[in-house]
Amino acid sequence: MRRETYVIERVGFIGLGLMGRPMARRLLAAGYGLTVHNRSRGPVEELASMGAVPAGSPREVAERSEAVLLMLPDSAEVEQVVLGKDGLIEGLRPGSVVVDCSTVSPETEVRIAAKLKEIGVDYLDAPVTGSTPAAEGGTLTFMVGGERAAFERVLPILRHLGSRIEHMGPVGHGQLTKLCNQIAVAGNLLAAAEAVLFAKRVGLDPKRVIEVIGAGAASSWQLVNLGPKMVERDFRPGFKAVHLKKDLRIVMEVSERHSLPLPLASLAWQMVRSLVASGYGEQGTQAVIEVLERLASDQTAEG
Ligand SMILES: NC(=O)c1ccc[n+]([C@@H]2O[C@H](COP(=O)([O-])OP(=O)(O)OC[C@H]3O[C@@H](n4cnc5c(N)ncnc54)[C@H](OP(=O)(O)O)[C@@H]3O)[C@@H](O)[C@H]2O)c1
Repeated sequence: MRRETYVIERVGFIGLGLMGRPMARRLLAAGYGLTVHNRSRGPVEELASMGAVPAGSPREVAERSEAVLLMLPDSAEVEQVVLGKDGLIEGLRPGSVVVDCSTVSPETEVRIAAKLKEIGVDYLDAPVTGSTPAAEGGTLTFMVGGERAAFERVLPILRHLGSRIEHMGPVGHGQLTKLCNQIAVAGNLLAAAEAVLFAKRVGLDPKRVIEVIGAGAASSWQLVNLGPKMVERDFRPGFKAVHLKKDLRIVMEVSERHSLPLPLASLAWQMVRSLVASGYGEQGTQAVIEVLERLASDQTAEG
């Protein structure tokens, strides 16, 4: 098979949540023969009603696809879907490629890539940034690790989903780049929440403050997009708190292995753990302002 010139037409997609559903819809609209699978059946039926082929297992997806994209919660789910019973590994043919767009541990990606290499299948870790609006608009940023030839083979697919698609190095380097992103995201999220809380406490209009400081050096995606939602108490998820907790857990694991202290990321991890423990795991990360408010109300009570 001449891999470099081989055009992929049949694509599989597994994990049809907040991100996976709009991504899969775009691939369908682009004309790919799409086979889909998800843990709950609702999103599978929705995509099937638009023309996708529903599959009952990852194995079935693999049997029908030349490339399979994953958009799953965490390392355990990716491992199960690829290597578990009725997993992709039971149906993949040599020459096919698996692209994991989930944010998971880099070590998991390296281990899975090695297993698939034994059967002649390429594996790319390709986590994304840009939340649900970017998934809907096809403007995600992809940070990809793996062999360059495999990267180039799936580029035409990824171009329907992202406006920036970068090859970062061998397998695992996509996830490592994404962890850098999440360190900065978590810091900006806490900074935005504290600024909103402070504005309210000192009697300013927090929405006006966001407009004004969001146009200057303090601006961030978190401040401009999530700040107003914090003010409005709109905690509907674009990015769930439970996923940020998972991302920061992975940051902690990797930084520990490298003996690297990360004070801000550690603090953010504790704040997001507290948020999830208080029952906000399925809410958006902007709900972190609840944790700060709890601290603030304790202070008020103490006088
Ligand atoms: N949301 C964002 O803004 C964003 C941005 C960048 C990266 N990410 C990352 O992308 C990944 C997905 O995020 P998301 O927001 O789309 O999460 P999500 O809404 O929780 O979706 C996850 C999907 O995976 C399905 N799933 C779980 N286990 C499965 C299994 N064993 N087999 C098949 N399907 C399974 C779930 O099915 P059910 O319907 O049964 O729950 C759900 O539909 C995460 O790693 C996240 O950190 C998210």
